[in-house]
Amino acid sequence: MSSHTPEPTQPRVSLHRLREQAARGEKIAMLTCYDATFAQVLDAAAVDVLLVGDSLGNVMQGQVSTLPVTLEQMAYHTACVARTQPRAWLMTDLPYGSYEASPEQALASAVTLMRAGAQMVKLEGGGPLVDTVRFLVDRGIPVCGHLGLTPQRVHALGGFRVQGRDAKAAAHLRTDAANLAAAGAAMMVLELVPSELARDVTRDHPDLLTIGIGAGAGTAGQVLVLQDMLGLTAVAGGKRPRFVRDFTQGRDGTTLPVREAVATYVADVKAGTFPDESVHGY
Ligand code: KIV
Repeated sequence: MSSHTPEPTQPRVSLHRLREQAARGEKIAMLTCYDATFAQVLDAAAVDVLLVGDSLGNVMQGQVSTLPVTLEQMAYHTACVARTQPRAWLMTDLPYGSYEASPEQALASAVTLMRAGAQMVKLEGGGPLVDTVRFLVDRGIPVCGHLGLTPQRVHALGGFRVQGRDAKAAAHLRTDAANLAAAGAAMMVLELVPSELARDVTRDHPDLLTIGIGAGAGTAGQVLVLQDMLGLTAVAGGKRPRFVRDFTQGRDGTTLPVREAVATYVADVKAGTFPDESVHGY
């Protein structure tokens, strides 16, 4: 296991570079990030994409879901990360209630986040949101979709459980992915879906950069919540999802410093040794 440290001269990550990276078979390593200190640590460890996720509701605010998170809070945390001028690509979640009403509402919210420093926005769901994605993309805003377990719909989905297990649900997800890709989504988080399904979506849409979380090893990249993969969620009394590894635990039983733990995550994603294909579900 080697660490993956960027050359000081390496250019900033762009969508174009991420596409080139995926085309040559190099996996994309993404982590959530909500503040300036971690932005610098993650950047030094060569993380490709920083996600200012609305998981900050759980992680930073102690909420039980992402639903209470506001657009202003997302803009604040985006600005904290963006101020460090990371080399990594910077993506921010559109929070619950900031984009569902209409494409115009989504555009106004996306503009707020782009002004705060985001380079791409992520929104959850397919179906009626396909038109919204097209509306944003046509207006020059890069969009990442998010299918499978969509935490903003946790109540409708009946909890944090694997999605797309039966044939009907899998077909639905495939259709959503195809429609979102056709609408111009450049990336797609696939959360808690069977690895074969995630692999199929990745194969069927070579121009769509699929990023898995609890979705096996067949996607173009991986994302984890930073506090989960640093073992902090568990220390704080929370539940670490089964598909997450605590990267502070070295293979020889030692505890790794944060930057080394993150560098190990990057190296393991790129080497294909994380995630472990056999581990699914929460
Ligand atoms: O908000 C978040 O952290 C996310 C990831 C789980 C993908 O959306």
